[in-house]
Amino acid sequence: MGLNRGLASVLSDSITLKISARAKELKKQGVDVISFSAGEPDFPTPDFVKEAAREAIDDNFTRYTPAAGILPLREAAANYIGKSTGVKYSPEQVLVSSGAKQAIFNILVATLTPTDKVIIPRPYWVSYPEMVRIAGGKPVFWDINFFSSCDRLNLSQLEYLLDNGASVLILNSPNNPAGYVLTDEEVLSLARLLEKHNNITVISDEIYDRIIFDGRHHISIAKYLLDRTVVINGVSKSFSMTGWRIGFAAGPAEIISLAAKVQAHTASNPCSISQKAALAAITGPSDTVNTMRDAFGRRRDIAVSTLGEIEGMALTIPEGAFYLLPDVRAFLNKNAGNKKIATSFDLCEYLLDEALIACIPADAFGLPGFIRLSFATGEREIISGITRMKAALLRLE
Ligand SMILES: Cc1ncc(COP(=O)(O)O)c(C=O)c1O
Repeated sequence: MGLNRGLASVLSDSITLKISARAKELKKQGVDVISFSAGEPDFPTPDFVKEAAREAIDDNFTRYTPAAGILPLREAAANYIGKSTGVKYSPEQVLVSSGAKQAIFNILVATLTPTDKVIIPRPYWVSYPEMVRIAGGKPVFWDINFFSSCDRLNLSQLEYLLDNGASVLILNSPNNPAGYVLTDEEVLSLARLLEKHNNITVISDEIYDRIIFDGRHHISIAKYLLDRTVVINGVSKSFSMTGWRIGFAAGPAEIISLAAKVQAHTASNPCSISQKAALAAITGPSDTVNTMRDAFGRRRDIAVSTLGEIEGMALTIPEGAFYLLPDVRAFLNKNAGNKKIATSFDLCEYLLDEALIACIPADAFGLPGFIRLSFATGEREIISGITRMKAALLRLE
Protein backbone atom coordinates (compact mmCIF):
# COMPACT_ATOMS: atom_id res chain seq x y z
CA MET A 1 0.00 0.00 0.00
CA GLY A 2 1.48 3.36 -1.04
CA LEU A 3 1.34 6.58 0.93
CA ASN A 4 -1.47 8.98 0.10
CA ARG A 5 -0.63 12.05 -1.98
CA GLY A 6 -2.82 15.10 -1.54
CA LEU A 7 -3.12 18.56 -3.05
CA ALA A 8 0.57 19.18 -2.39
CA SER A 9 1.53 16.60 -5.00
CA VAL A 10 0.86 19.24 -7.69
CA LEU A 11 3.64 21.46 -6.34
CA SER A 12 6.85 21.77 -8.28
CA ASP A 13 10.26 21.14 -6.75
CA SER A 14 12.14 24.25 -5.76
CA ILE A 15 14.79 24.78 -8.41
CA THR A 16 16.46 27.31 -6.17
CA LEU A 17 16.88 24.80 -3.38
CA LYS A 18 19.75 22.98 -5.05
CA ILE A 19 21.76 26.20 -5.45
CA SER A 20 21.12 27.45 -1.93
CA ALA A 21 21.83 24.02 -0.39
CA ARG A 22 25.16 23.93 -2.23
CA ALA A 23 26.00 27.53 -1.18
CA LYS A 24 25.24 26.66 2.46
CA GLU A 25 27.35 23.52 2.26
CA LEU A 26 30.31 25.50 0.87
CA LYS A 27 29.91 28.17 3.57
CA LYS A 28 29.90 25.45 6.21
CA GLN A 29 33.22 24.25 4.85
CA GLY A 30 34.59 27.75 5.42
CA VAL A 31 34.52 28.79 1.74
CA ASP A 32 33.99 32.54 1.22
CA VAL A 33 30.69 32.37 -0.68
CA ILE A 34 28.90 35.68 -1.35
CA SER A 35 25.16 35.22 -1.42
CA PHE A 36 22.92 37.29 -3.67
CA SER A 37 20.00 35.01 -2.93
CA ALA A 38 18.51 36.62 0.19
CA GLY A 39 14.86 37.63 0.07
CA GLU A 40 15.14 39.67 3.24
CA PRO A 41 16.75 42.86 4.52
CA ASP A 42 20.08 42.26 6.28
CA PHE A 43 19.46 45.00 8.89
CA PRO A 44 18.44 44.21 12.47
CA THR A 45 14.87 44.77 13.61
CA PRO A 46 14.67 48.31 15.13
CA ASP A 47 15.39 48.44 18.88
CA PHE A 48 12.05 50.00 19.83
CA VAL A 49 10.28 47.06 18.18
CA LYS A 50 12.37 44.52 20.08
CA GLU A 51 11.62 46.43 23.29
CA ALA A 52 7.86 46.14 22.65
CA ALA A 53 8.24 42.37 22.26
CA ARG A 54 10.20 42.09 25.51
CA GLU A 55 7.44 44.04 27.26
CA ALA A 56 4.80 41.72 25.82
CA ILE A 57 6.64 38.71 27.24
CA ASP A 58 7.10 40.37 30.65
CA ASP A 59 3.38 41.24 30.68
CA ASN A 60 2.56 37.58 29.95
CA PHE A 61 0.94 38.53 26.68
CA THR A 62 1.48 34.93 25.64
CA ARG A 63 -1.95 33.41 25.06
CA TYR A 64 -4.28 32.91 22.09
CA THR A 65 -5.50 36.19 20.64
CA PRO A 66 -8.61 36.81 18.50
CA ALA A 67 -8.15 34.86 15.25
CA ALA A 68 -7.99 37.96 13.03
CA GLY A 69 -5.50 39.68 15.35
CA ILE A 70 -5.72 41.98 18.37
CA LEU A 71 -7.98 44.99 17.89
CA PRO A 72 -5.27 47.66 18.46
CA LEU A 73 -3.17 46.08 15.71
CA ARG A 74 -6.13 45.78 13.33
CA GLU A 75 -6.87 49.47 13.99
CA ALA A 76 -3.25 50.47 13.51
CA ALA A 77 -2.93 48.35 10.34
CA ALA A 78 -6.14 49.95 8.99
CA ASN A 79 -4.49 53.37 9.45
CA TYR A 80 -1.15 52.19 8.11
CA ILE A 81 -2.62 50.69 4.92
CA GLY A 82 -5.02 53.62 4.72
CA LYS A 83 -2.02 55.94 4.52
CA SER A 84 -0.11 53.90 1.94
CA THR A 85 -3.14 53.44 -0.33
CA GLY A 86 -4.96 56.72 0.22
CA VAL A 87 -8.11 54.82 1.16
CA LYS A 88 -10.01 54.52 4.46
CA TYR A 89 -10.26 51.11 6.17
CA SER A 90 -12.03 50.04 9.36
CA PRO A 91 -10.51 47.37 11.68
CA GLU A 92 -13.16 44.85 10.47
CA GLN A 93 -11.61 45.17 7.04
CA VAL A 94 -8.20 44.04 8.27
CA LEU A 95 -6.82 40.57 8.90
CA VAL A 96 -3.51 40.06 10.69
CA SER A 97 -1.73 36.87 9.60
CA SER A 98 1.57 35.05 10.11
CA GLY A 99 3.35 37.00 7.38
CA ALA A 100 2.12 38.45 4.12
CA LYS A 101 2.44 34.97 2.68
CA GLN A 102 -0.20 33.49 4.96
CA ALA A 103 -2.40 36.55 4.41
CA ILE A 104 -2.31 35.93 0.63
CA PHE A 105 -3.01 32.24 1.06
CA ASN A 106 -5.99 32.88 3.37
CA ILE A 107 -7.44 35.35 0.86
CA LEU A 108 -6.99 32.84 -1.99
CA VAL A 109 -8.78 30.12 -0.03
CA ALA A 110 -11.52 32.62 0.83
CA THR A 111 -12.06 33.72 -2.78
CA LEU A 112 -11.40 30.67 -4.99
CA THR A 113 -13.64 27.80 -5.89
CA PRO A 114 -12.02 24.68 -7.43
CA THR A 115 -10.52 25.21 -10.93
CA ASP A 116 -10.96 29.02 -10.78
CA LYS A 117 -8.33 30.77 -12.88
CA VAL A 118 -5.98 33.24 -11.23
CA ILE A 119 -4.04 35.72 -13.36
CA ILE A 120 -0.43 36.08 -12.26
CA PRO A 121 1.83 38.71 -13.89
CA ARG A 122 5.05 37.09 -15.12
CA PRO A 123 7.83 37.25 -13.89
CA TYR A 124 6.25 36.44 -10.54
CA TRP A 125 7.14 35.86 -6.94
CA VAL A 126 7.85 32.16 -6.70
CA SER A 127 5.05 31.29 -4.26
CA TYR A 128 2.03 32.74 -6.11
CA PRO A 129 1.45 29.86 -8.56
CA GLU A 130 2.01 27.25 -5.86
CA MET A 131 -0.35 28.94 -3.41
CA VAL A 132 -2.99 29.14 -6.12
CA ARG A 133 -2.54 25.42 -6.83
CA ILE A 134 -2.80 24.44 -3.16
CA ALA A 135 -6.00 26.50 -2.93
CA GLY A 136 -7.39 24.44 -5.83
CA GLY A 137 -7.12 27.19 -8.46
CA LYS A 138 -5.37 27.29 -11.83
CA PRO A 139 -2.64 29.88 -12.42
CA VAL A 140 -2.66 31.64 -15.80
CA PHE A 141 0.15 34.03 -16.69
CA TRP A 142 0.19 37.60 -17.95
CA ASP A 143 3.57 38.66 -19.39
CA ILE A 144 4.89 42.02 -18.20
CA ASN A 145 7.25 43.86 -20.55
CA PHE A 146 9.39 45.00 -17.65
CA PHE A 147 12.27 45.76 -20.02
CA SER A 148 10.25 48.43 -21.77
CA SER A 149 9.95 51.82 -20.08
CA CYS A 150 6.87 53.05 -21.95
CA ASP A 151 4.78 49.98 -22.71
CA ARG A 152 5.11 47.60 -19.78
CA LEU A 153 1.52 46.44 -19.51
CA ASN A 154 0.17 44.33 -22.32
CA LEU A 155 -3.48 45.15 -21.68
CA SER A 156 -4.79 43.15 -24.63
CA GLN A 157 -3.24 39.97 -23.26
CA LEU A 158 -4.75 40.79 -19.87
CA GLU A 159 -8.14 41.40 -21.46
CA TYR A 160 -7.94 38.02 -23.19
CA LEU A 161 -7.29 36.32 -19.84
CA LEU A 162 -10.12 38.27 -18.21
CA ASP A 163 -12.49 37.30 -21.00
CA ASN A 164 -11.50 33.67 -20.51
CA GLY A 165 -12.96 33.25 -17.10
CA ALA A 166 -10.33 34.36 -14.58
CA SER A 167 -11.72 35.27 -11.19
CA VAL A 168 -8.69 36.68 -9.35
CA LEU A 169 -5.78 38.89 -10.45
CA ILE A 170 -2.65 39.13 -8.32
CA LEU A 171 -0.70 42.38 -8.67
CA ASN A 172 2.69 43.04 -7.08
CA SER A 173 4.17 46.53 -7.18
CA PRO A 174 6.94 47.27 -6.21
CA ASN A 175 7.76 44.00 -7.88
CA ASN A 176 9.78 41.00 -6.82
CA PRO A 177 11.73 39.96 -8.89
CA ALA A 178 11.62 42.60 -11.67
CA GLY A 179 11.88 45.76 -9.53
CA TYR A 180 9.27 47.78 -11.43
CA VAL A 181 6.94 50.17 -9.65
CA LEU A 182 3.63 50.77 -11.42
CA THR A 183 2.92 54.41 -12.19
CA ASP A 184 -0.37 56.15 -11.47
CA GLU A 185 -1.13 56.05 -15.19
CA GLU A 186 -0.51 52.32 -15.40
CA VAL A 187 -2.60 51.58 -12.33
CA LEU A 188 -5.43 53.73 -13.67
CA SER A 189 -5.36 51.98 -17.06
CA LEU A 190 -5.55 48.63 -15.28
CA ALA A 191 -8.43 49.77 -13.09
CA ARG A 192 -10.35 51.03 -16.15
CA LEU A 193 -10.02 47.62 -17.78
CA LEU A 194 -10.89 45.71 -14.61
CA GLU A 195 -13.97 47.86 -14.02
CA LYS A 196 -15.50 46.17 -17.06
CA HIS A 197 -15.04 42.74 -15.48
CA ASN A 198 -16.98 42.93 -12.25
CA ASN A 199 -16.43 39.30 -11.26
CA ILE A 200 -12.70 39.87 -10.72
CA THR A 201 -11.12 40.20 -7.28
CA VAL A 202 -7.70 41.87 -7.15
CA ILE A 203 -5.07 40.82 -4.62
CA SER A 204 -2.56 43.66 -4.56
CA ASP A 205 0.66 42.58 -2.85
CA GLU A 206 2.24 45.83 -1.65
CA ILE A 207 4.80 44.34 0.75
CA TYR A 208 7.65 46.44 -0.74
CA ASP A 209 5.72 49.75 -0.71
CA ARG A 210 8.29 51.48 1.54
CA ILE A 211 11.29 50.42 -0.57
CA ILE A 212 11.01 52.72 -3.59
CA PHE A 213 13.81 54.81 -5.10
CA ASP A 214 14.39 58.10 -6.91
CA GLY A 215 11.38 59.89 -5.39
CA ARG A 216 8.85 57.59 -7.09
CA HIS A 217 5.57 56.98 -5.27
CA HIS A 218 3.67 53.85 -4.48
CA ILE A 219 0.22 53.76 -6.10
CA SER A 220 -2.30 51.18 -4.94
CA ILE A 221 -5.06 49.95 -7.21
CA ALA A 222 -7.30 50.11 -4.13
CA LYS A 223 -7.46 53.83 -4.81
CA TYR A 224 -9.45 53.12 -7.99
CA LEU A 225 -11.05 49.72 -7.34
CA LEU A 226 -11.72 49.72 -3.63
CA ASP A 227 -14.72 47.39 -3.51
CA ARG A 228 -12.84 44.52 -5.21
CA THR A 229 -9.27 44.90 -4.01
CA VAL A 230 -7.57 43.17 -1.12
CA VAL A 231 -4.31 44.91 -0.27
CA ILE A 232 -1.50 42.84 1.22
CA ASN A 233 1.17 44.44 3.34
CA GLY A 234 3.20 43.66 6.46
CA VAL A 235 6.26 44.39 8.52
CA SER A 236 8.70 41.81 7.09
CA LYS A 237 10.48 43.94 4.50
CA SER A 238 9.88 47.54 5.63
CA PHE A 239 10.88 46.96 9.26
CA SER A 240 13.33 44.11 8.73
CA MET A 241 11.06 41.71 10.62
CA THR A 242 10.95 38.63 8.38
CA GLY A 243 11.26 36.19 11.28
CA TRP A 244 8.47 37.72 13.33
CA ARG A 245 5.87 36.59 10.80
CA ILE A 246 3.30 39.39 10.71
CA GLY A 247 1.43 40.41 7.56
CA PHE A 248 -1.85 42.14 6.81
CA ALA A 249 -4.73 41.87 4.38
CA ALA A 250 -7.11 44.83 4.01
CA GLY A 251 -10.21 44.75 1.83
CA PRO A 252 -13.95 44.15 1.67
CA ALA A 253 -15.18 43.04 5.13
CA GLU A 254 -16.94 39.99 3.66
CA ILE A 255 -13.72 38.57 2.16
CA ILE A 256 -11.71 39.46 5.27
CA SER A 257 -14.17 37.68 7.53
CA LEU A 258 -14.05 34.53 5.33
CA ALA A 259 -10.25 34.63 5.34
CA ALA A 260 -10.29 35.06 9.13
CA LYS A 261 -12.33 31.85 9.35
CA VAL A 262 -9.71 30.04 7.25
CA GLN A 263 -7.06 31.34 9.62
CA ALA A 264 -9.06 30.47 12.76
CA HIS A 265 -9.30 26.84 11.68
CA THR A 266 -5.74 26.45 10.44
CA ALA A 267 -3.48 28.70 12.53
CA SER A 268 -5.74 30.09 15.31
CA ASN A 269 -3.92 33.44 15.37
CA PRO A 270 -0.56 35.00 14.55
CA CYS A 271 2.01 35.02 17.39
CA SER A 272 0.80 37.24 20.27
CA ILE A 273 4.26 38.68 20.96
CA SER A 274 4.91 39.44 17.30
CA GLN A 275 1.58 41.24 17.11
CA LYS A 276 2.72 43.62 19.87
CA ALA A 277 6.04 44.10 18.10
CA ALA A 278 4.28 44.85 14.79
CA LEU A 279 2.01 47.32 16.58
CA ALA A 280 5.08 49.19 17.83
CA ALA A 281 6.65 49.06 14.35
CA ILE A 282 3.75 50.54 12.42
CA THR A 283 2.86 53.18 15.01
CA GLY A 284 6.47 54.16 15.79
CA PRO A 285 8.95 56.50 14.09
CA SER A 286 9.73 55.87 10.41
CA ASP A 287 13.36 56.96 10.43
CA THR A 288 14.72 53.38 10.41
CA VAL A 289 12.48 52.53 7.45
CA ASN A 290 13.83 55.53 5.53
CA THR A 291 17.43 54.80 6.51
CA MET A 292 17.09 51.23 5.19
CA ARG A 293 15.46 52.46 1.99
CA ASP A 294 18.31 54.90 1.40
CA ALA A 295 20.89 52.16 2.02
CA PHE A 296 19.09 49.91 -0.49
CA GLY A 297 19.13 52.81 -2.96
CA ARG A 298 22.91 53.21 -2.62
CA ARG A 299 23.45 49.46 -2.97
CA ARG A 300 21.25 49.40 -6.05
CA ASP A 301 23.38 52.13 -7.65
CA ILE A 302 26.60 50.29 -6.84
CA ALA A 303 25.24 46.95 -8.11
CA VAL A 304 23.86 48.51 -11.31
CA SER A 305 27.09 50.31 -12.15
CA THR A 306 29.27 47.26 -11.37
CA LEU A 307 27.02 44.94 -13.39
CA GLY A 308 26.98 47.54 -16.16
CA GLU A 309 30.69 46.87 -16.68
CA ILE A 310 29.94 43.32 -17.78
CA GLU A 311 29.66 43.31 -21.54
CA GLY A 312 26.60 41.42 -22.79
CA MET A 313 24.62 41.69 -19.57
CA ALA A 314 21.37 43.57 -20.15
CA LEU A 315 19.68 45.11 -17.15
CA THR A 316 16.76 47.32 -16.18
CA ILE A 317 17.30 49.60 -13.22
CA PRO A 318 15.09 48.55 -10.31
CA GLU A 319 12.64 51.26 -9.21
CA GLY A 320 11.80 49.51 -5.96
CA ALA A 321 12.29 46.37 -3.80
CA PHE A 322 15.85 44.97 -3.61
CA TYR A 323 16.38 42.70 -6.58
CA LEU A 324 18.19 42.88 -9.92
CA LEU A 325 17.03 40.75 -12.79
CA PRO A 326 19.71 40.75 -15.50
CA ASP A 327 19.22 39.09 -18.86
CA VAL A 328 22.02 36.53 -19.16
CA ARG A 329 21.07 34.98 -22.49
CA ALA A 330 24.30 36.32 -24.02
CA PHE A 331 26.20 33.90 -21.77
CA LEU A 332 24.15 30.80 -22.50
CA ASN A 333 25.21 28.09 -24.92
CA LYS A 334 28.84 28.81 -24.08
CA ASN A 335 31.27 26.30 -22.64
CA ALA A 336 33.02 26.06 -19.31
CA GLY A 337 35.74 23.54 -20.09
CA ASN A 338 33.83 20.61 -21.53
CA LYS A 339 30.56 21.53 -19.78
CA LYS A 340 27.94 23.40 -21.78
CA ILE A 341 26.10 26.23 -20.01
CA ALA A 342 22.67 25.75 -21.53
CA THR A 343 20.29 27.37 -19.03
CA SER A 344 20.33 30.10 -16.40
CA PHE A 345 20.27 27.29 -13.84
CA ASP A 346 23.54 25.92 -15.32
CA LEU A 347 24.95 29.45 -15.24
CA CYS A 348 24.07 29.86 -11.54
CA GLU A 349 25.72 26.52 -10.79
CA TYR A 350 28.80 27.63 -12.73
CA LEU A 351 28.91 31.00 -10.90
CA LEU A 352 28.67 29.23 -7.57
CA ASP A 353 31.48 26.81 -8.42
CA GLU A 354 33.74 29.25 -10.23
CA ALA A 355 33.04 32.66 -8.68
CA LEU A 356 31.72 31.50 -5.30
CA ILE A 357 28.59 33.63 -5.62
CA ALA A 358 25.03 32.42 -5.15
CA CYS A 359 22.40 33.81 -7.54
CA ILE A 360 18.92 32.48 -8.31
CA PRO A 361 17.98 31.26 -11.80
CA ALA A 362 14.89 33.23 -12.76
CA ASP A 363 13.28 30.09 -14.18
CA ALA A 364 11.86 29.99 -10.63
CA PHE A 365 10.03 33.24 -11.42
CA GLY A 366 8.80 32.10 -14.82
CA LEU A 367 11.62 33.79 -16.72
CA PRO A 368 14.26 31.47 -18.19
CA GLY A 369 17.39 33.23 -19.45
CA PHE A 370 17.55 35.64 -16.52
CA ILE A 371 19.02 35.43 -13.03
CA ARG A 372 18.01 37.23 -9.85
CA LEU A 373 20.46 38.97 -7.54
CA SER A 374 19.32 40.41 -4.25
CA PHE A 375 21.16 43.55 -3.17
CA ALA A 376 20.10 43.09 0.45
CA THR A 377 23.75 42.58 1.27
CA GLY A 378 26.71 44.81 2.15
CA GLU A 379 28.26 47.23 -0.37
CA ARG A 380 31.66 45.52 -0.23
CA GLU A 381 30.14 42.09 -0.90
CA ILE A 382 28.21 43.54 -3.83
CA ILE A 383 31.33 44.93 -5.45
CA SER A 384 33.53 41.92 -4.85
CA GLY A 385 30.79 39.40 -5.77
CA ILE A 386 29.99 41.11 -9.08
CA THR A 387 33.69 41.53 -9.87
CA ARG A 388 34.13 37.79 -9.38
CA MET A 389 31.09 37.21 -11.58
CA LYS A 390 32.60 39.30 -14.36
CA ALA A 391 35.87 37.35 -14.27
CA ALA A 392 34.05 34.00 -14.35
CA LEU A 393 31.81 35.08 -17.25
CA LEU A 394 34.85 36.21 -19.24
CA ARG A 395 36.27 32.70 -18.93
CA LEU A 396 33.29 31.18 -20.76
CA GLU A 397 34.04 30.24 -24.35
C1 LIG B 1 6.29 39.70 -3.32
C2 LIG B 1 6.31 39.09 -1.96
N1 LIG B 1 5.14 38.93 -1.31
C3 LIG B 1 5.11 38.38 -0.09
C4 LIG B 1 6.27 37.95 0.54
C5 LIG B 1 6.16 37.29 1.88
O1 LIG B 1 6.27 38.15 2.95
P1 LIG B 1 6.23 37.58 4.43
O2 LIG B 1 7.62 37.26 4.81
O3 LIG B 1 5.65 38.71 5.24
O4 LIG B 1 5.36 36.39 4.45
C6 LIG B 1 7.49 38.09 -0.09
C7 LIG B 1 8.72 37.60 0.54
O5 LIG B 1 9.74 37.36 -0.08
C8 LIG B 1 7.52 38.70 -1.38
O6 LIG B 1 8.68 38.86 -2.03
